[in-house]
Amino acid sequence: MTMYDIILKKRDGRTLTQSETEYFVKGFTDGSIPDYQASALLMAIFFRGLSHDETFLLTDAMMRSGDTADLSSIEGIKVDKHSTGGVGDKTTLIVGPLVAACGVPVAKMSGRGLGFTGGTVDKMESIPGMRTSLETDEFISLVNRVKLAVIGQTGHIAPADKKIYALRDVTATVDNLSLIASSVMSKKLASGSDAFVLDVKCGDGAFMETVEDAKALAALMVEIGTAGGKKTIALVTNMSRPLGRGVGNGIEVIEAIETLKGAGPKDITELSLRLASYMIFAGDAAASPEAGYRAAQDALSSGAGLDKLREFIAGQGGNPAVTDDYALFPKAAFSVAVRADADGYVGDLAARGIGIASRRSGAGRETKDEAIDLSAGVILHKTVGDAVKAGETLAVVCGNDEERLNEAAEIAKAAFRIGPEKRRPAPLIYAVIA
Ligand code: URA
Repeated sequence: MTMYDIILKKRDGRTLTQSETEYFVKGFTDGSIPDYQASALLMAIFFRGLSHDETFLLTDAMMRSGDTADLSSIEGIKVDKHSTGGVGDKTTLIVGPLVAACGVPVAKMSGRGLGFTGGTVDKMESIPGMRTSLETDEFISLVNRVKLAVIGQTGHIAPADKKIYALRDVTATVDNLSLIASSVMSKKLASGSDAFVLDVKCGDGAFMETVEDAKALAALMVEIGTAGGKKTIALVTNMSRPLGRGVGNGIEVIEAIETLKGAGPKDITELSLRLASYMIFAGDAAASPEAGYRAAQDALSSGAGLDKLREFIAGQGGNPAVTDDYALFPKAAFSVAVRADADGYVGDLAARGIGIASRRSGAGRETKDEAIDLSAGVILHKTVGDAVKAGETLAVVCGNDEERLNEAAEIAKAAFRIGPEKRRPAPLIYAVIA
């Protein structure tokens, strides 16, 4: 078997076998298959697609490319949540503490920002002292004690995904249903949790732009998770506008804290409660998602979620005083206001545009290994449905590089569509697939 033959087969639209799939995954992971051949195969997959069975085979081969975490010494049903990536999505930092406060253990591996989307690990690093890389023993003992620990993806879990994803990111082959499903599910199945709640984003700020595509992706991932013996539930949620009012690392952690204090934006609060409700249900701490929702609401209103966040921060070496003193977060030296040109209503606010503006301000990476500015990002003063007057502030971009901020402000401004009529925002949750 040669890689040339495998590329040729997929280029011509034929079906790959198990041994061909394994040959590619193993060879690319150990470095014997070069990037240019892997890129050619990914592009052939992008255009020709993978069948249902081929997607299962690819997921399995990627899952087995590294270790499978053994979390059996954590008591209870371990539940994980995974988002396919969005703009302003700080839900892990809200949902994790709410679910843990309800007694369900959350042992989570999270990612860094990708493209114009943010990542929980980068956000956590804006908390002074917070460690995002822990030895397995410490990780397990924290989950047993606090019920919540979040770390970055280790090199041992699904290393094939790590390498393939990095290549997809720079070869325009990310937004393919089979490649996303196998990427997400290979690392989830290897990560050792017992149940998964997937947040499949759809809209211009997500990899799946239409509700139909996002539903198909959700159904495929639920099927792969279930076949792997894990309870898997997917929510298809709106990512055509940013979530909440803050986009950027420290900015989003502050918004997550505000949400746990009961003062968060409505969309972020509601999505967090819904995700938490399914996690609490999947963790057997509630008899139904509705009962899970009430438990999550109680954890929010009683302050138990906020206390759990403090415990989680302290457990991973961070300073829990940040929850009361936001001056402890990295501070941006400059800010630029984005102002409305005319009176009207915000009809659309493109999530992708705001994500790109945030990345330009310094909050994300424009090259693979670039350092990020943890203070940078976009604070939205207006969102979809809000009335605006000419000259009023729509958003503020902040960071430490004035030139980049001026460019970011232009990009953010182009993301706003101001029209004469008030439009009703599209729904927050389109479907739940279990
Ligand atoms: N998130 C992932 O982990 N993988 C993808 O392919 C897309 C989003």
